Amino acid sequence: MQKSVTKAVIPVAGLGTRVLPASKAIPKEMMPVVDKPVIQYVIEEAVAAGIKDIVLVTRSGKASIEDHFDCHYELESELERKGKITILDSVRNILPSAVSITVVRQHKALGLGHAILCAAPIIGNEDFAVLLPDMLINSYGLDRADLTSMVEAYHSSGCGQIMVEPVPMEHVDRYGVVDCSGKDISSGESADISRMVEKPAVDKAPSNLSINGRYILPARIMELLKDTKPGAGGEIQLTDAMADYLIEGKLQAFHMSGKTYDCGNKTGYLQANIIYGLQHDETAESLKAFIKDLKL
Ligand code: G1P
Repeated sequence: MQKSVTKAVIPVAGLGTRVLPASKAIPKEMMPVVDKPVIQYVIEEAVAAGIKDIVLVTRSGKASIEDHFDCHYELESELERKGKITILDSVRNILPSAVSITVVRQHKALGLGHAILCAAPIIGNEDFAVLLPDMLINSYGLDRADLTSMVEAYHSSGCGQIMVEPVPMEHVDRYGVVDCSGKDISSGESADISRMVEKPAVDKAPSNLSINGRYILPARIMELLKDTKPGAGGEIQLTDAMADYLIEGKLQAFHMSGKTYDCGNKTGYLQANIIYGLQHDETAESLKAFIKDLKL
């Protein structure tokens, strides 16, 4: 029987220290890129790839994320009364009715691996996706979004997939890094991972293929996370649980075709606003003209 993945974990409990003071009183996931909060792009990406059940791993102070995906009765009836149907549609139909969002809390900031483990009671014994909400995956102009292609790779190979993209060698210490026995992978292709390491020193990194925050993982990872000890930065790392899994099973790296924007840092966030603004019907022309006129 073909395996399927319908559940996704999205950890949103981070403090957003790299984008302070903007993220002091609002979750960093609610910061807008053009006209939508970052988290909406990420959830839409998951839904487009076939995800039906989304588990947000959250903490106090993050309730506006749940509110964003809930009904806003007062606003909706006011927009309806005024006949503002296009705007009404944009606030009313964010999630298809077949998609559910469940919220669990991470009571202590013990790391990404620990955040994912908090979703274990809801994931149960099923393979699951993980999407890190800082990272926007831009698949503009591609036939198919990268996550959708990665789900297909999971279906055809039957094994877990981790999305990767090459980064400049001097930046590898910011990411989890994978090695596919030294093999080069073409865009849109997958290859078996031989090794992976979280935030390696630049001179010790096995490659420049960085994990960009999209995973389809075997259910077994939840078991392994229970025993994963703190690693890089003193935190319980998802990468370490995946590295343990390699001893008993196979994971593949999926080389993305689009481009990642890290909205958890100021430059990546600004770049995302420019790129998504240039790809948005309402803003593309005026933004293009503005950029053309800039005297740098
Ligand atoms: C996390 C992961 C890392 C991955 C990165 C992508 O690190 O642990 O493997 O490359 O996300 O953004 P963080 O950015 O939370 O330190």
